Amino acid sequence: MSWNITLFDAKEYDINSFNGFKDKYDVVYKYYDTRLTEDTVSLCKGSDVVCVFVNDQITDRIIDALQEYGIKLLALRCSGYNNVDIEYAFGKLHIVRVPAYSPHAVAEHAMAMLLTSVRRIHKAYIRTRDFNFSLNGLTGFNLYGKTVGIIGTGRIGKCFADICLGFGMKVLAFDKTPANNPRITYTTLNEIWKKSDIISLHCPLNEETLHLINKSTLKKMKKGIVIINTSRGALIDSKALLNSIKTRHVGAACLDVYEEEANLFFRDLSGHIIDDDILARLISMPNVIVSSHQAFLTEEALYNIAETTLNNINEFMITGTSKNEICYKCSQFNECKGKSKGKCF
Ligand code: NAI
Repeated sequence: MSWNITLFDAKEYDINSFNGFKDKYDVVYKYYDTRLTEDTVSLCKGSDVVCVFVNDQITDRIIDALQEYGIKLLALRCSGYNNVDIEYAFGKLHIVRVPAYSPHAVAEHAMAMLLTSVRRIHKAYIRTRDFNFSLNGLTGFNLYGKTVGIIGTGRIGKCFADICLGFGMKVLAFDKTPANNPRITYTTLNEIWKKSDIISLHCPLNEETLHLINKSTLKKMKKGIVIINTSRGALIDSKALLNSIKTRHVGAACLDVYEEEANLFFRDLSGHIIDDDILARLISMPNVIVSSHQAFLTEEALYNIAETTLNNINEFMITGTSKNEICYKCSQFNECKGKSKGKCF
């Protein structure tokens, strides 16, 4: 049996990794570089499965259209699902995701950004290419002995904590469901704001965590705080962050995600005028490093994404169930009663 899969926001690296499984699965791919939007949803006609990534916004109208076209499954090739109206989708469209593809990839990127920032590697790289060997202005600080506050100690947060412990840092953490790890000190969010030298976000984006870092929480942080966000952009109120950078309260920001990234990231806009003044100003700052949702991008992660996505699709299309199905009831502390029977509804 062969499945027709339409993939949106599909870049060269996605196409290579999915094509690598052509011998294993009997699938016909249609790849689109564009995102899935109300304007592009008609491209899904005739497909069995639609496969999307982090910046495809799956709204109620898109869900209605997918249902009308008889789409059997929406396969997210990512772990976060804040971009899907999962409550509206319940009972209409089955959704699967890739719960973990490489927590190490994201945690290592967070540390790469932190080291780049605090040791000014981004500045040194540019200088030495111009044979400027001056060290003025490149003074950094040691990570050894510093306190890092980690918010969310699931798969990625735990890896990041392990890396920080390897550097001799003290790890404070906040999680709604703390892990049993004697090397991590769980505390309140207020203590994290007050005591951390560095804060790294690894929790999902939801109503509770939207703008977790805002004007009032920024005020509670130490002067010189370094903020890392490799999770989801809207965990941070970007305008408030920019203001705190301008007042020299925030020492540095390492941002792999940005709240308005959907129309910007994953595209070459180097010849364009960027309308987003907040992002443009953030990028202009010497103490801000922005990568465009790149933390996942390793060979290992791409392989795992393609493999798990295709396994999810194959399993669901054959059995009508998938262990990686999600619905809004599963996301609310495992209230999904259907899950134990193998499907959410
Ligand atoms: P996970 O589900 O393993 O861990 C998330 C943790 O956050 C859990 O321990 C959970 O209890 C905790 N949490 C939930 N609500 C919370 C709250 N209100 N306050 C504090 N903690 C809370 O997820 P994983 O795999 O570690 O991913 C974390 C996030 O990283 C994802 O939600 C996703 O947004 C992001 N991500 C970013 C990538 C990138 O390329 N930049 C790639 C993959 C994931």
